[in-house]
Amino acid sequence: SGSKSDQDPKNSQLNIEEDKKLNIEVLPENTDKEDLSFKVIIIGDSNVGKSSLANKAIKNKFDSGYSATIGFDFFSFFVKINNKVLKLQIWDTCGQEIYQSLITNFYRNCSFGILVYAINNRDSYEHLDIWLKEIKRESNPDAKIFLIGNKCDLEKERVVTYEEANIYSENMEFSRFFEASAKEGINAKEIFIEAARILYEDYITYKSEISSSVSEKTNPEIKITLNKKEHKSICC
Ligand code: GTP
Ligand code: MG
Repeated sequence: SGSKSDQDPKNSQLNIEEDKKLNIEVLPENTDKEDLSFKVIIIGDSNVGKSSLANKAIKNKFDSGYSATIGFDFFSFFVKINNKVLKLQIWDTCGQEIYQSLITNFYRNCSFGILVYAINNRDSYEHLDIWLKEIKRESNPDAKIFLIGNKCDLEKERVVTYEEANIYSENMEFSRFFEASAKEGINAKEIFIEAARILYEDYITYKSEISSSVSEKTNPEIKITLNKKEHKSICC
């Protein structure tokens, strides 16, 4: 029997302050020095809101008009975690089928995938298997992947339940599932903060595993092994 605030979906956003061990600070877009850099790709059907989530998270902007991404867009997201500056190089791809052969190249050396569907678009949910197969085939095999159900502000148009997507996410071993709304700013920034936090923690784990035997010069972006299968999900 939770309190009233537990039941309000707006209050169940990711709490990034939750993890007291880590000191997390989002840095401005024009930050010019980083300690660690990771390539993150956003994929999913056209019109689900991939660009909108990136724009909301990074520029705090939302545009209700639709302009399809042609090829890809590129964003940088900087987060300072403890004493390290992480740069996420975010590749926002287009969902349109005619460009698929082009975006396959962008999966290479990817450390992290963000697979997006829209809760009011059944096709975008049914197509997740295809996207997942593609990213697993083309990217770093250890890359972690988040599942994001966007447009959760459109509750009246919902055709994909939270529960079914959560089960799918567990079965397919996504490392996180959450619903989000680029429009309302629900879990938009948190997607990238959480991705950075996981990449940082894996980097620290990796470093401590190799510290006795391998030189510090090893490139963490290429060699980091992301093998912890953890699963958490958060409703929007
Ligand atoms: P492609 O670039 O074609 O692959 O599409 P995309 O996935 O980047 O979608 P985009 O971000 O361009 O958004 C598509 C449409 O959905 C736009 O009209 C957005 O304004 C709208 N939209 C995006 N996110 C949300 C959301 O959270 N809620 C609502 N209501 N509309 C959204
Ligand atoms: Mg787009």
